[in-house]
Amino acid sequence: MIFNLNRLSPKLLRVALLVIVLGISSYPSGWLFNSAQAEDAGNLYNTAVDIRMGNRYFERQCSRCHGFDAKGNDETGAPDLTGRLRRASSDTGIFSIIREGVPGTAMIPVATDVTNATVWQLVAYINSLRYDPASVELAGDAKTGGKLFAGKADCSVCHMVDGQGGRLGPDLSRIGENKTPEDLLLAMLDPDEEVAPRWWRVRAAGADGVIREGFRMNEDSFSLRIMDIDSNLWSFQKRDILNYERFEKSTMPSYAKSLSDGELDDLVAYLFTLRREVLP
Ligand code: HEC
Ligand code: HEC
Repeated sequence: MIFNLNRLSPKLLRVALLVIVLGISSYPSGWLFNSAQAEDAGNLYNTAVDIRMGNRYFERQCSRCHGFDAKGNDETGAPDLTGRLRRASSDTGIFSIIREGVPGTAMIPVATDVTNATVWQLVAYINSLRYDPASVELAGDAKTGGKLFAGKADCSVCHMVDGQGGRLGPDLSRIGENKTPEDLLLAMLDPDEEVAPRWWRVRAAGADGVIREGFRMNEDSFSLRIMDIDSNLWSFQKRDILNYERFEKSTMPSYAKSLSDGELDDLVAYLFTLRREVLP
């Protein structure tokens, strides 16, 4: 996952926004967040304003090799940055390339006096190229996909979009922001490929001996809480648990057989439009 705003607490986000509004983002970012914290929290500099700042910096310092449109340049050997990157698949990976360069190539590090905030803005800009729906041509039709989602394909039984739908899967209201079309297709073809712990299920019997099954909501050394399919919450004291099984597979079915290629394309096109931020 490249950037996930949901992972940021609204409070942190507000701090980040405030910093920008006050125009103090050019102070060394270590002043507010050191890079280790930034790593934990994801990119805190990815508002539309940050993307624009990143773009401006890019035009000044990077475009002579990578081109104004960031599509690369055969003469300088600088690669296209608008598709999937070869050397980095995460925010922090892109950050390190810009900060440290790629040894032995023309890709040299940014000057040491360039702040971490500026580097994060470059990361946000590069990400925006990849996720700008306008720069990506998709085979499917988003409108048809939207109808399928709520209708025949019945995705909304489990998934919420803009407050409509179920809670048996992640809220997809912003899924287009941090997934490529390929990721989205893969999520439908092979849901078991990558299942976040939040969606693991456990089956456990507590003191009353009744077996209950549900999503693992939280777990610590002493207790476990699960939510069953009817959204009931069950708490267990670990010492009372009689048997316990954990399933790391997805509850989402694969749609490889039940939907046609055309329908899958339409769904990908629809999911790709699901984003909040309007990019510049
Ligand atoms: C002097 C030319 C030059 C300049 C200036 C330059 N780059 Fe690069 N960049 C390269 C080359 C060449 C590579 C490929 C290195 C390799 O992997 O062999 C590269 C690779 C990259 C990559 C990794 C691409 C991938 O597919 O993994 C990123 C990200 C990147 N550059 C970003 C930037 C940013 C941001 C700037 C401006 C701060 C910048 N570059 C400035 C030449 C340049
Ligand atoms: C029975 C419930 C259920 C149904 C029906 C369902 N999903 Fe899911 N979906 C899940 C769960 C649970 C996850 C999280 C685990 C995983 O990654 O597979 C998930 C994950 C996803 C993801 C990845 C989300 C992420 O943040 O990585 C996408 C995209 C997705 N579903 C799309 C769809 C679409 C499109 C449909 C309809 C064609 C659909 N789902 C039908 C339960 C469901």
